[in-house]
Amino acid sequence: MTDRELRVSKIENGTVIDHVAGGQALNVLAILGIDGSEGTVVSVGVNVPSDRLGRKDVVKVEGRELSQSEVDVLSLIAPEATINIIRNYEVAEKHRVERPERVVGVLQCSNPNCITGENEPADTEFEVLKDGVRCVYCDTIIRKDFADHILA
Ligand code: CTP
Ligand code: ZN
Repeated sequence: MTDRELRVSKIENGTVIDHVAGGQALNVLAILGIDGSEGTVVSVGVNVPSDRLGRKDVVKVEGRELSQSEVDVLSLIAPEATINIIRNYEVAEKHRVERPERVVGVLQCSNPNCITGENEPADTEFEVLKDGVRCVYCDTIIRKDFADHILA
């Protein structure tokens, strides 16, 4: 990409989530719990042309690295994403997200009677499917709005 085509500036320190499926950037922000009120500096590119994906979204979060559980949930909506850790303007680390077989203790089951519910001792556990996740205790399937199901 030439300077004339630059859409979103490079960042000094933080995380670039690249190759996000077109249109998913705002869901990425929701999963990261970013709504602008925390003062984090964030740049978002939506439906940017990409050789590999046709179009892609890019999210650049300054001054923050992601936890493994955040990456696990991101993998559900952005299985092709690349996580780039930026330090002093350089790409210090680059990882493809991996879809875990299970996500434990990260998402809340949407079944109010599930044994993993409030005041119950069991940790939530979901099996990762092609198009969603299934609670291993009650078989409830969650296919979208993962951000609304993240445990605090
Ligand atoms: N980036 C950034 N700030 C930096 C360095 C890189 O915002 N200081 C961004 C780039 O704009 C790009 C991503 O981080 O979106 C990865 O950078 P780089 O590895 O240099 O780009 P590519 O080689 O195109 O990455 P890939 O091979 O993963 O497509
Ligand atoms: Zn359940």
